[in-house]
Amino acid sequence: MLRYFVFGIVALLILWRVPQLLILPLTIVALIGLALVIRSALRARRAVTDFGPAAQAVMTLTSARSWRVTAANLGLVNTGQRARGLMGRPEAVTFIPRVLRTIPTPYGADAIVAGAPGQDLSTWAAASGRLASALGVAAVTVTEPVPNQFVLALRASDPLAAPISSPALVPANGMSLLLGLTESGHWAHMSLANHSGLLLCGAPGSGKTAWLTQAVGGVLTYPEAQLLLIDGKAGHDLDSLAQRSYLYLTGDQADPLTVLMALRDVQSLMRRRLVNAVEWFGGTPNYWSRGPHVGHPVVLVVIDEAQTYLDARSGITKDEKALIAEIQSVAMDLIKKGRSAGIVVVIATQKGTTDAIPSAIRDQCGLRVCFRVQTREAVEAGLGQLPPDAPSPIGQDRGVGVAVSPEVGVIRFRSPYIAHEVVESEMAALGRLTSDPTRVEVSNSDMAQGITEGDPA
Ligand SMILES: Nc1ncnc2c1ncn2[C@@H]1O[C@H](COP(=O)(O)OP(=O)(O)O)[C@@H](O)[C@H]1O
Ligand SMILES: [Mg+2]
Repeated sequence: MLRYFVFGIVALLILWRVPQLLILPLTIVALIGLALVIRSALRARRAVTDFGPAAQAVMTLTSARSWRVTAANLGLVNTGQRARGLMGRPEAVTFIPRVLRTIPTPYGADAIVAGAPGQDLSTWAAASGRLASALGVAAVTVTEPVPNQFVLALRASDPLAAPISSPALVPANGMSLLLGLTESGHWAHMSLANHSGLLLCGAPGSGKTAWLTQAVGGVLTYPEAQLLLIDGKAGHDLDSLAQRSYLYLTGDQADPLTVLMALRDVQSLMRRRLVNAVEWFGGTPNYWSRGPHVGHPVVLVVIDEAQTYLDARSGITKDEKALIAEIQSVAMDLIKKGRSAGIVVVIATQKGTTDAIPSAIRDQCGLRVCFRVQTREAVEAGLGQLPPDAPSPIGQDRGVGVAVSPEVGVIRFRSPYIAHEVVESEMAALGRLTSDPTRVEVSNSDMAQGITEGDPA
């Protein structure tokens, strides 16, 4: 653009020395030069305002000449032949991918590109690393939502780089756990409907318990949810949910036998629900067809540091080993059959590998969340097999995780941090909603026989 300006200045200087005849055309040229300089400056300013750190990349893509050169350098330009004229004589042509639109995003920009003939997603995926270097952004990821239309995500900055906090619980979206903010700037939720197992992995200190507390806390604002809370660390990390748990096992009460009894109570409830399903769940055998109900709430069974109870090596004596085997068997039964009974088991662990959590349990968990881990083996244990371009939880910041579910796909998110005391006081205020579903839900025939231990709801 500078040369237009220089050209304009030179033209103005010449005006002093040439015959008057040339004044008009030279003035016009100079004005056009000036207009072009102004236009280009405005375009650059608008790009910076709209696209921030991705501005330069967007300018390269939207300037016909720069894009032609860049695309050619990256091997994204095709040559072919096209019939031309009355005789239909073949003529060599160059096909340049067309940039249709650029859209600002929290990470920079999305560019929508119509591919040249013969290009497919693999063409663009193979070029993505070189595209990122050529456009001067950290990374480019490519998708093809419409055939032969490629969306290039220009990742100039990481929108999840900075911690986020919230002064209050972010309300859940019905029976969904709030994951956090995603790279596209939306709050993402993970629906519990039609699921019975969530595996939550992450290195110690990666933010598992903090996430769990606020996500489960959000669901517990609904009276249609009840919680059995078990802390394998037997500490105080989960105290903020205590008032909204119908049973909270920690400290001395977190011993394997007490845990087994509590899980067995849920297993009995599950069996009663399965037997009475059609009568209890509005004429359908599946709990989720009609959805949660105060009389038949979703039962969340949260086991933090679950390897304490599920890792066969944590039992030393014969009795302890037998107890662990029993807990494994009941947990497996809950995850296998709990879906149609509104039971959801959350297994949180710093070690998701098969030595700590039996694969039979792990593989049944349809919902997965993984915070920072160190190895690929740990990622696979936590999230299962993922495509090579999926976001990875390796080396993420505390509070940044990757979630996988059939509904959300694979997403990276940052959990909002909510102070322990805030969750605690919100749960305390909701304490009146707490009731033990294993005691109050009985079928008519059970009531007739008087086998219930508590008061029906
Ligand atoms: N998103 C976050 N932002 C800021 N601090 C956090 C966040 N998540 C966790 N923490 C803090 O980091 C520490 C460890 O988090 P925690 O959830 O207990 O980790 P984990 O359960 O994975 O061992 C706690 O002191 C917690 O308050
Ligand atoms: Mg923890």
